[in-house]
Amino acid sequence: MDSILVSGGGELNGQIPIAGAKNACLTLMPATLLSEEPLTLTNAPRLSDIKTMTELLQSLGAEVTSLQDGQVLAMSSHDINNHTADYDIVRKMRASILVLGPMLARDGHAVVSLPGGCAIGARPVDLHLKALEALGAELELKDGYVHAKAPGGLKGGTVDFPLVSVGATENVLMAATLAKGTTVINNAAREPEIVDLADCLRKMGAQIDGDGTSTITVQGVDRLHGATHPVVTDRIELGTYMLAPAICGGEVELLGGRLNLVGAFCEKLDAAGISVEETDRGLKVARRSGRISAVDVVTEPFPGFPTDLQAQMMALLCTADGTSVLEEKIFENRFMHAPELIRMGAQIDVHGGTATVTGVDRLKGAPVMATDLRASVSLILAGLAAEGETVVSRVYHLDRGYEHVVGKLSGVGAKIERIKGQ
Ligand code: EPZ
Repeated sequence: MDSILVSGGGELNGQIPIAGAKNACLTLMPATLLSEEPLTLTNAPRLSDIKTMTELLQSLGAEVTSLQDGQVLAMSSHDINNHTADYDIVRKMRASILVLGPMLARDGHAVVSLPGGCAIGARPVDLHLKALEALGAELELKDGYVHAKAPGGLKGGTVDFPLVSVGATENVLMAATLAKGTTVINNAAREPEIVDLADCLRKMGAQIDGDGTSTITVQGVDRLHGATHPVVTDRIELGTYMLAPAICGGEVELLGGRLNLVGAFCEKLDAAGISVEETDRGLKVARRSGRISAVDVVTEPFPGFPTDLQAQMMALLCTADGTSVLEEKIFENRFMHAPELIRMGAQIDVHGGTATVTGVDRLKGAPVMATDLRASVSLILAGLAAEGETVVSRVYHLDRGYEHVVGKLSGVGAKIERIKGQ
């Protein structure tokens, strides 16, 4: 297994291009199942999760061709000949559940493996299933698979989510585009990835209103046509790299970054003493004063502070002036990076969903282990500011959500390299 070696110290200066969003692309790709005409995605990120979704769609009979060094995905679902999403693929990536709604809407039947457990939390899919049942789907759980059918097709209905779920909103939104009648989704997720999905579906002929708010209305249509759609900027990759100059000092411009994607996050950076300004090419981030200030953070659904930036923010707060309290409200087990940061000399107390971080003058390099996608990059950020060398192992987690990490960070002056097969 590869690992990444980071030699800490030194400011970062220059530009980092931000890719298309993993979490948008993973819901845009299954949308191809909703039409027999081609759907082409541009600005696609080059990640192992995108390869897994490609493998899944191809296993159903879709054609997915990667062009222009992987940044364009040309897809066609003209000949879907298999309606079972196999455990062997689904276990690699929970987002595989997002083929359920589109397949059911398209052909009235689908069999999808349940995703199973996850490092950051139980992550059930009950809300996905209840939402599809509200559109008339008949579901049966058998041998670890969801067996779904909709004889006569899905029908418009009202979905009332008891809590905000990004994936469940995406699944039922896609399904509702081909359901007979009107669907109203209450307490819907408002993430930019949902708006990007709705934009793409509208280009395919869907009738959708209210995306980006808590109430989405969908008027079902008989069929959808083909389209070409650019994947929205990855706000989590953006936020991650905004923290690089914040944690090391210096000034970095994030090409393609937009303030409205990271509003709540920028408020916390501002409170910590980090300046963020918009440029005509993106966002410029610089550290104002010598030492950053402690800030408290609570993770929430968009437009609140994203849980996917919590680990990275903790890395920053390890060397803040004072004590910060981080509350993780979305996932019940998302502090596994804390013991690794403690190995680097951080002072962190975790009790349930709350972590108290008492800033230290400087972290010290150490061998550490990645436990999930966002935890892995938080250890790299910590290593950039630490004294000495940090070796992050199990970086296969990182490849799921970050393309060219070594290239992008060394491009602004970081001392970082990938160590093959250790
Ligand atoms: C999406 O996951 C993202 N993944 C996650 O990013 C992100 O952390 C999460 O949204 C929250 O923003 C993708 O888009 C592929 P949820 P998702 O359904 O859709 C509970 C990353 O690092 N819940 O909004 O799975 C659930 O357990 C990943 O890129 C149910 O109880 O998240 C959680 O506590 C990690 N029943 C909460 O809701 C359900 O049926 C929010 O989950 C569904 C969810």
